[in-house]
Amino acid sequence: MNVRTRSDLDRLRAEGLSALHPPRLRISVGMATCGLATGAADVYDALRDEAAARGLDLTLVATGCIGYCQQEPLVDVRVPDRGRVLYARMDPERARALIAALAAGELPAERALAVISEDQASQVSAPSEVLPGVPLLSELPFYARQHKIILRNSGLIDPTRVEEYVARGGYRALAHTLLDLSPQAVIDEVTRAGLRGRGGGGFPTGCKWQVCRDAPGDPRYVICNGDEGDPGAYMDRTVLESDPHSVVEGMIIGAYAVGAHEGVIYVRDEYPLAVERVSQAVAQAQELGLLGQDILGSGFDFTVDVVRGAGAFVCGEETALIASIEGGLGEPRPKPPYPAVRGLWGQPTVINNVKTWSSVSAILARGADWYAGIGVERNRGTVVFSLVGKIANTGLVEVPLGLTLREMIEGIGGGGLDGKAVKAVQTGGPSGGCLPARLFHLPIDYETLTEAGSIMGSGGMVVMDEDTCMVDVARYFIRFTMDESCGKCTPCREGTRYMYDILTRIVEGQGTPEDLENLEQVAAWVKAASLCGLGQTAPNPVLSTLRYFRDEYEAHVTEKRCPAGVCRALIRLAIQPGLCTGCGLCLRECPVGAISGEPKEPHTIDPHLCTRCRLCQDVCPVGAVEIVR
Ligand SMILES: Cc1cc2nc3c(=O)[nH]c(=O)nc-3n(C[C@H](O)[C@H](O)[C@H](O)COP(=O)(O)O)c2cc1C
Repeated sequence: MNVRTRSDLDRLRAEGLSALHPPRLRISVGMATCGLATGAADVYDALRDEAAARGLDLTLVATGCIGYCQQEPLVDVRVPDRGRVLYARMDPERARALIAALAAGELPAERALAVISEDQASQVSAPSEVLPGVPLLSELPFYARQHKIILRNSGLIDPTRVEEYVARGGYRALAHTLLDLSPQAVIDEVTRAGLRGRGGGGFPTGCKWQVCRDAPGDPRYVICNGDEGDPGAYMDRTVLESDPHSVVEGMIIGAYAVGAHEGVIYVRDEYPLAVERVSQAVAQAQELGLLGQDILGSGFDFTVDVVRGAGAFVCGEETALIASIEGGLGEPRPKPPYPAVRGLWGQPTVINNVKTWSSVSAILARGADWYAGIGVERNRGTVVFSLVGKIANTGLVEVPLGLTLREMIEGIGGGGLDGKAVKAVQTGGPSGGCLPARLFHLPIDYETLTEAGSIMGSGGMVVMDEDTCMVDVARYFIRFTMDESCGKCTPCREGTRYMYDILTRIVEGQGTPEDLENLEQVAAWVKAASLCGLGQTAPNPVLSTLRYFRDEYEAHVTEKRCPAGVCRALIRLAIQPGLCTGCGLCLRECPVGAISGEPKEPHTIDPHLCTRCRLCQDVCPVGAVEIVR
């Protein structure tokens, strides 16, 4: 089918609607990378095979990320005229049992996480009556405060079927843009919406587009930055895997606004599923005529290439990314000139993050006023976080800007893991900082997080509890930036190594009070003198932990003690005689023969032989091995 007009789009939409709401059972399995890692493919196969064996007529869909990653594999079951239920922590056996129950006309309660209210009222009786006692999805603390714009289709549609994207309003914004608006009107709309780049810096998107449009030079380019190298972050990967057309549509709109006819989606090669899905989406859009020449009969031409990055963190930096696309070394260059003026092949180029592009298509579909009504002043719209670490509920979360850290961590995240107190949160990945629990009243917005010593970043949010050593955390991130520094500028190349060496001395019990002063001074130099954002922000984890957790550094340096009981050189393991049953498990497992004792008698650990590997702690069935801090 070639989509040339709005009526063609309507026909595609009708096809998509019948796929999304078939007259028979539709079962969707969350099969983004997060789901696949927990065995979703086996669940999918079991559902398919069991349904075939029982002759059950159903539509089985591999959808994207449903969000609550911790509860995966997640299975969304939609029974026409009955309701929709989300099942959690599925496995092949439970999948087969689910099919058996469905074949018998039952909607089982086992593993039912929540009832989902359908947007089509006619499909369901009353959601609360679908499975009495099972909460509505919107009532679960994890979902209650979320507002999905970037993730609007994630986990709902089959990402490989463009008609399902269209059924959910997709490509309507493109038709409106190309057929009703001038390029300047599009820029004005994005500016009025207040959208800021979701790649980390929060630069106003409309402003960047205006600079590019006004810059002399032709051709121009648009780029989607899908490099996403922060440890613990997987927002962009998920958007590309779960809803690739939302990004492609945003890019076509942006290209029209700035006058570009070629675009590049840059994705790291370690994201094979994202590469596959986005390449498929580009091919589909081309086949339909939504990419290519004279799109929707508007006279506007635009094509997109998918370029795979080799997985260097620095290649997420826009000038390094451009160098990488051009086939050069992935190294940054000084700015200005900014890419909007001199970018790809020296031409004016807009580079935006995956989530920014996905937001653009939503804004043009629903209008700037709608978007500007979400969030808070200067921080409009929503932001996606991958909420991970020592927290009860982990997953992909989208919230309006301005929500407090407490609402995020305690409300959505459900607080610490195993009832432990949350000590800090790290936002912004290696470029960000650690904020202590006493600052959890702060709103999540670009300025507040920066003032507090962290950054919004692209959306990584790592929660830490009392068992996390903040010196060790700082060392972890500095090690990362040291390894990932491209080495082009001396402050970053040498400064990160110098800080790493100091932090290593401190965690090994060799630190001195002067080391803390040196750390602070070097951090300030690296921040001020580095060429690109990698070096300029690399000291943030060190500076923020020194600012808020100085007592932990001092305990390491002056008392030679690690309060969290993490740093091997500063702890001792001991067996509590009152608890030890003398089972001998630890004695057998200890790799260095440091444990002795008679059967059924309390055992002991020789501190001179012990390497503090903690294997004894892991295997002890009665929790008799304690850390002496
Ligand atoms: C070391 C480093 C890594 C970066 N990595 C990414 C990344 O993975 N994704 C991204 O969108 N922006 C990344 N950025 C920011 C980009 O340079 C650029 O500001 C961004 O792509 C612009 O898009 P936005 O305006 O939509 O945020 C990184 C910056 C630095 C300094």
